[in-house]
Amino acid sequence: MSRLFVKKPLGQLLSEASETEKGLKRTLTAGSLVALGIGAIIGAGLFVRTAAAAGAHAGPAVTLSFIVAAIGCALAGLCYAEFASMIPIAGSAYTYSYATLGEFVAWIIGWDLVLEYALGAATVSIGWSQYLNKLLFSLFHTTIPYELSHSPFEVSATGVHGMINLPAIFILLMLTLLLIRGTQESATVNTIIVIVKVAIVLLFIGLGWHFINPANHTPYMIPADAGTVTLNDGSVVDYSQPRNHGWLGVLAGAGVVFFAFIGFDAVSTAAQETKDPKRAMPIGILVSLAICTVLYILFSHVLTGVAPFKDFLKAGSEASVAYTIDTYMPGYSWLSLFITIAILAGFSSVILVMLLGQTRVFYSMSNDGLVPPVFSKLHPKFRTPYKSQMLFFVFTALFAGFIPDHIVGNMTSIGTLFAFVLVCIGVLVMRKSDPNVPRPFKTPWVPVVPIAGAIVCGLMILGLGADNWIRLFIWLAIGFVIYFGYSVKHSKARKLQQ
Ligand code: ALA
Repeated sequence: MSRLFVKKPLGQLLSEASETEKGLKRTLTAGSLVALGIGAIIGAGLFVRTAAAAGAHAGPAVTLSFIVAAIGCALAGLCYAEFASMIPIAGSAYTYSYATLGEFVAWIIGWDLVLEYALGAATVSIGWSQYLNKLLFSLFHTTIPYELSHSPFEVSATGVHGMINLPAIFILLMLTLLLIRGTQESATVNTIIVIVKVAIVLLFIGLGWHFINPANHTPYMIPADAGTVTLNDGSVVDYSQPRNHGWLGVLAGAGVVFFAFIGFDAVSTAAQETKDPKRAMPIGILVSLAICTVLYILFSHVLTGVAPFKDFLKAGSEASVAYTIDTYMPGYSWLSLFITIAILAGFSSVILVMLLGQTRVFYSMSNDGLVPPVFSKLHPKFRTPYKSQMLFFVFTALFAGFIPDHIVGNMTSIGTLFAFVLVCIGVLVMRKSDPNVPRPFKTPWVPVVPIAGAIVCGLMILGLGADNWIRLFIWLAIGFVIYFGYSVKHSKARKLQQ
């Protein structure tokens, strides 16, 4: 039993880090970490999932959903920051937990991060496909046929069934090839994308504010008697269901829009390249979260004020921001075009970060012997984990090509939330088991913050509903089969212990 909790020695971890550290310069400041965070955070969560949460669960009160999700992220973020500052090396929750909580928990977190990174990339690529069609329509009055840009589970307003989402697969392939070549997104490109993303959010808020129709905000929460909406595929959204109105609707919406915050933990992976990580890391995590929260609340307030929330289940269910501008803001088609182009660029950078994060986690897991060596095999010339990158392309393409975005997006959310719950609990456990390890950044008000973080994230998991619990459960069950079938036999930490 104790071997389930075998730990990777901290000394080994730090020496591995200093090996990979050769050549890496500590150049990032708290400010650049904030830019990195915002670059990874703002994406399909805001420009696609907001409308989905408003339409099906929260209505205009999706602003409150953002507040709930932000509270959960801030609490978990404080716990992340303690881990990240204790072991300020490149990595993620997987690496920290291997050294501190032991192999089994590390496996669960690493396995869960596949949902966060790989399915996150798939979700954003589906959003990319929607906005690409919008762009083609604006410029050339044509779109990629519905069958070829939607999963088999989707049906258009005119009754056409989807078959495969080719544009989503295309963008995943392009970015995979870019990553294989090892073209690192430079800090300058990232900064430009961050500025453009923030600019379009501010533009939409500023210009859209004048088009808010107070009637759309009344009542602010969806009432239980709001009726039903029949979707194109014949399924019905019934607002009298508990998760589709009132405060429970806000909570369910929080689980959905939580997706929009995913990525702030990516900041912690840059610890090796950060000057004074002990101070900069918590600032990077919390300030990028705070900025995004304010932007999200204002943005969703305007979006649901300009368009009635039920629109987001029908005509406005795709490329919702461009739809809202085109339909309710006459004279602003230039804004719709500009936003669409910026979104396509912005989504690409989020997908890139996620695909990179995914292979990095599996690279570490493979070096530790928990997943097969193929995941740490480097390309002879480009020195990138090309096989891993290709395998994850196939995996993400299967989801992006054949599953609708709400299913993939909610699986991403639930997987990440579960990892956050484990990180919160992990901080508590560590305070008891290793009280003397130096903690340059300490989570404040322990045990209140970690417990509250685990509760808020746990509530959002509940809000995501039974279908998603089952999906998470199946994913974890597959993970356990692999862990006990493969990893325990190949684990290097276990061999060291023998
Ligand atoms: N937070 C990222 C997004 O919304 C994953 O696209």
